[in-house]
Amino acid sequence: MRRILVVGAKGMLGRDLVETLRLSFPKDEITGWDVEEIDIQEEKNTITQIGKFEPGVIINVAAYTDVDGCELNEKKAFAINAEGVKHVALGAVTCGAKVVTLSTDYIFDGKKDRPYLEDDPPHPLNVYGRSKWKGEQYVQELAKDALIVRTQWLYGKYGKNFVASILRQAREKDVLSVVNDQVGSPTYTIDLSHAIALLIERKARGIFHVANRDSCTWYHYARTILRLSGIEGVKVVPVSSKELAYPAIRPAYSVLDTQKLKRETGLTLRPWMEALKDYLSS
Ligand SMILES: NC(=O)c1ccc[n+]([C@@H]2O[C@H](COP(=O)([O-])OP(=O)(O)OC[C@H]3O[C@@H](n4cnc5c(N)ncnc54)[C@H](OP(=O)(O)O)[C@@H]3O)[C@@H](O)[C@H]2O)c1
Repeated sequence: MRRILVVGAKGMLGRDLVETLRLSFPKDEITGWDVEEIDIQEEKNTITQIGKFEPGVIINVAAYTDVDGCELNEKKAFAINAEGVKHVALGAVTCGAKVVTLSTDYIFDGKKDRPYLEDDPPHPLNVYGRSKWKGEQYVQELAKDALIVRTQWLYGKYGKNFVASILRQAREKDVLSVVNDQVGSPTYTIDLSHAIALLIERKARGIFHVANRDSCTWYHYARTILRLSGIEGVKVVPVSSKELAYPAIRPAYSVLDTQKLKRETGLTLRPWMEALKDYLSS
């Protein structure tokens, strides 16, 4: 029996991932820890606790994911997304565990006009992206068996996300202003969890891009959420990122190329609209 440890297990992806791993690996022991069990900012404790637990695989999905919050609190962003990830990798080294960590499309600057490949040079525009990229670098430097899964625009039943936010705003307002100059691929945490399980099963190493197929802008995404939910009478107005002036700059185009996942596992995630329909109906 192998021990698989998920760190960040109470987050949006973490909850679906633990459930999926239990179904995918019924013979293994799947354990989830979150900040109550382990604070990855604490170097000594993190290394000791992981070392004592002796997992065969450790999947880190813990992160400071508030992109605008990171911009205003750079110290916290690096303490969790970079140093915290380093501590997890060091813990894994002490017991020879495989390390899987989650990263983001926001490590790219969005200036490309075709989907980003795993070996395209990172050039993050914001603190969140810089801190996540540093975390990637630590894992690659320290762990012998490392898997980095970059994904984007996540939604799922357990967390704060764009779909939930649009549905909530639609109950409160008649007009919603939504950004129409950023393009990406909305990705369902259940689909991502299955891909992570498959990558582990195949003993994959290195960097993989994982996202649902096809792309859209946040504006198009918001309109689709309302249409598929049967909500009428709410107007969605397209606006530019400049108009909304969020603290963190986002890439204009951050679609991830997922051909490597297909080549090495045979898996292509379904189109984002199909996954969204499934999510909304469940
Ligand atoms: N959400 C997206 O659109 C998106 C896109 C690309 C990549 N990702 C990456 O995917 C992963 C999962 O994202 P998510 O949206 O599921 O994140 P999430 O819902 O914010 O979950 C992260 C979890 O980590 C916990 N955590 C925070 N600081 C910690 C610490 N110091 N020690 C231990 N646990 C800590 C959080 O606890 P608290 O809630 O108590 O802080 C939370 O339970 C992250 O690595 C993220 O960077 C997400």
